[in-house]
Order: sequence, then C-alpha cells, then structure tokens
Amino acid sequence: MTTTTVASPKIRQTNMLIGGKWLESRSGRRFATVNPVNEQVIAEVAEGDSADVDAAVKAARAAFDSGPWSRMDARDRGRLMNKLADLMEANLEELAALESLDNGKPIRDARAADLPLSIDCLRYYAGWADKLTGDTIPIRGNYFCYTRREPVGVAGQIIPWNFPLLMAAWKWGPALAAGCTIVMKPAEQTPLTCLRLGELAQEAGIPDGVINIVTGYGATGAAIVKHPGVDKIAFTGHYETAQKIMVDASATLKRLTFELGGKSPNVVFADADLDAAVAGAEFGLFFNQGQCCCAGSRLFVEESIHAKFVEKVVARAKSRRLGDSLDTNTTQGPQVDLEQFQKIMSYIDKGKSEGATCLTGGSRVGNKGFFIEPTVFDNVTDDMSIARDEIFGPVMSILPFKNVDDIINRANNTYYGLAAAVWTKDVQKAHRFAAGVRAGTVWVNCYDVFDAAAPFGGFKMSGLGRELGAAGLANYTELKTVTMNLG
Ligand code: NAI
Ligand code: MG
Repeated sequence: MTTTTVASPKIRQTNMLIGGKWLESRSGRRFATVNPVNEQVIAEVAEGDSADVDAAVKAARAAFDSGPWSRMDARDRGRLMNKLADLMEANLEELAALESLDNGKPIRDARAADLPLSIDCLRYYAGWADKLTGDTIPIRGNYFCYTRREPVGVAGQIIPWNFPLLMAAWKWGPALAAGCTIVMKPAEQTPLTCLRLGELAQEAGIPDGVINIVTGYGATGAAIVKHPGVDKIAFTGHYETAQKIMVDASATLKRLTFELGGKSPNVVFADADLDAAVAGAEFGLFFNQGQCCCAGSRLFVEESIHAKFVEKVVARAKSRRLGDSLDTNTTQGPQVDLEQFQKIMSYIDKGKSEGATCLTGGSRVGNKGFFIEPTVFDNVTDDMSIARDEIFGPVMSILPFKNVDDIINRANNTYYGLAAAVWTKDVQKAHRFAAGVRAGTVWVNCYDVFDAAAPFGGFKMSGLGRELGAAGLANYTELKTVTMNLG
C-alpha cells in the first residue's frame, strides 16, 4: 500500500468575522486549537466574549433590518449561495485537509463525505431561496386572505466539532435561503474550517453582516443565546447544553431548534443479508471515530446468527487502519480531544466492570494523540451504562435477542430517539419496525444515508424540530397572515 500524507494546510484566518471585518476579540484573549493526532497547537484563535457577540448581533441586525439580505431578490440570494458552494468545490482539497487537521478525521472521509455533503446542502437550499410561497385562504366574509413566509430574523447558530463544515452548511443553508442573517459560533475544538468558510462567503459576494462568526467556548455561545437581538437559536450538541439554552432563551422566547445525541438501535434479524448487515454495523458505529449523533450504538443481533455475526464484525473492527488523519490510508483517526478521550475510556471501564465481554480493543493506542482501539463489547444487556448512555466513541455494544415481538419495545427503551436501523429481507418486519420505533430517522438495510432533501432530527431528548429538507427551512421562517377587506 502506498502511503500518501497530505501536506498540512496553511492557516489563513484566526480572527472573528463581524460586520465584514476580521477582528481580534475586544479582550485580546485567544485560545488554542489542537491537532488531536499529536496534541500540538495548530493555531491560537480569537476568544469572543459578550462584547464581541454584541457587535456581531448588531451587524447581523443591521444586515437584516435595513437590508440588503432580507430585501434582496430571492433569486440573487440563491445565486450567491451557489457561488459559495462553487468556491467550496474549487477549494475542496484545502478545506478537507483543514477539517482533517483540526478535527482528526481521516482525510479520505473529509474528501468523500464532509465536503461533498456540505456543498450539496448549500446548493439544495440555494434552490429553495425563490420558492418560499404562501397560501391564499378562503375565509368567511368578503375578504382576501393570504399567508407570507418571512425570515425569522437573526439566527444564532451554535455547532459542535464532529462535522464542523457540514454542521455549518446545515445551518447556513436554510437560514440564508429564508433571508435570515447569522451569528455563528463554531465549536472551540474545531474553529478553523468555519473561519475559512467565512472568507469564501466574502469572496462569493455575500454582503457584510449577513454571516458573522464569533469563536470561543460555551460562554460565548451563552452570550448569543441571551442576546435580545437574536430571534432564533439553532443548536447541535449535548442535551444538557440544550437544557441550559432553553432556560437562557426563555427570557426573550427565542425560537429553538435542537439536534442532540442518540443511542440508536441497529437491529439485525437472522434473515438479513449477513455481510451487508456486518458492513452496515461497522460503518454505522465506527464512522467518524464513533463521534456521530446517530451512531448505531445499540447493535441488536438475533441469537441464531449471533456467533457468525460476531466473528465477522470483530474481524472488520480489527482491520480498521488507525493513523495520522492526513494519511490517505487511514480509516480511523483520533478522538477530537482529551475530554472526549477520557469520557470514552471511562465507558470502556464501565463496560468491563458491569460484566460485558470485551472481544477486541479496549485500550489507548500510543501515548501521543487521542487514539482508541476499535472496541467491541458482546453480551451487553439493556441496563448497562454502555447500553444506555451516549459514548460518542469507537465502542460497539452487541445485545443478542431472540424475542422478535419484544425488539421494538427494547429499541424504544431509551430517552433518546434520533435514528434506528433494521436489517431484514422480510418487508413486513421492516415496515412494522419502521412504524413502531420512536426515532426521527429509520434506515432499512442501510445506515447513515443522508441527503439535504431528507429531514433529520430527533424524537424525545434527541432534539426539537428538524433540519434539512423543506422542514428544515420552515424553522427559519415566520408565517404571516394578511387579511384584506374587499369592501
Ligand atoms: P456541547 O453541547 O457542550 O458543545 C456543543 C457546542 O455548544 C459548542 O460549540 C460549545 O461551545 C457550545 N456550548 C457549550 N455550552 C454552551 C452554553 N451553555 N450555551 C451555549 N452554547 C454552549 O458538547 P461537547 O461538550 O462538545 O460534547 C459533550 C457530549 O455531547 C459528547 O460526548 C457527545 O455525547 C455529545 N455531542 C453530540 C453531538 C451531536 O452531534 N448531537 C455533537 C457533539 C457532542
Ligand atoms: Mg461541553
């Protein structure tokens, strides 16, 4: 196998984008963003506080209240969004390398998944910009009644580190199409690609103040949530953070959409295509180092195929190639940071002490960087911590089952409800499961199939509202009813 290691990309931007200018924080403070492969500092990025957030919100307010964005012809907004997507495509290699460097994800994944999906999302929503229509409504009396879909205003968008560019695209796409302006806070672990995207947005000609980016930690996010000039918060991350956001947003009754975690059931019946199910189980759990909100982290396997399934899935786990994220042969990089690394290692310890069987993995790899062996636990029961809590790492939990009638109840025995999957050739079983499982997305004989047109989001504590598709756009609009007396 020939090894090609992509050169580290140049770091071009470490300041914040406020009203079209790249600014230091008013306090002068900076924070380090670290390469999780070797724990070395990549760059020192401006740390915004409430004064910087206030300036960003004022810029976003001005761009919204007095134009140009909300008043621009919708088709022209769409054209600028497409231009940004084109610039992302033209700079795909640089963005993929930067994403890989800052997050630790394998460059091959950044090239094949993060970048194409982000570009597609912006193009999909660019097409919506001039298609937001209202209704004419027949009401009693001699009136003409119609509705208008208007932008919700200034959107505060707070995103995590697991798919930094893609999360920015999921949030910018519908906001820009609807005519909203933006104050975004990328995650403290991975600010670099978002800042580069801000530069590309300027190059595309998106007017000053439409997109503002404030970098920093949770306190910076909280300042956005509390600011009275912000109309809506879109957040992706942990449900405990969402709970704080709900409290902080209540003073001004902001519109809220949340995309939170999961403990998604991936159910393999004995009649499934075994190799496809094994491949889907590996991809559904280990992709992105297990750092996926929709990871198939409760793998239910029917008892009659359990032994064969386990043998195959362990072999696949062992064949994963850990290494430098910029090496094109790497299929598994490090976890994003020390905090995540420690959280995952503590769950591996709990799995062992609570009596699950660790079939492979379970240890750190090397002593620099946050690498964890692909880990497979067997004989996991519903009550164990590793079957209940979101681990967000490369830790597979296999739960054997024999009672088919009971599997929907077991799948639903969680406070989460983000995604679910089922592997079977029996259409009746597949449809029964799809209808019975309390989750926002159900995959049948596939896993992690995402498309900008298909809504995504959670039941229960996995979220509020939907992203992507027409449903994702609706969350960035207010519905206005106009009634005219016809005399
Ligand atoms: P987090 O929810 O603390 O962070 C996500 C974003 O929210 C970051 O930009 C952060 O700076 C910001 N934030 C933190 N506190 C805030 C506050 N009080 N107000 C406003 N913004 C705030 O998640 P974290 O600490 O990165 O990860 C913890 C766990 O959350 C992970 O182990 C995983 O289980 C889950 N998670 C789920 C994600 C998903 O895709 N649904 C993504 C990232 C984490
Ligand atoms: Mg946190």
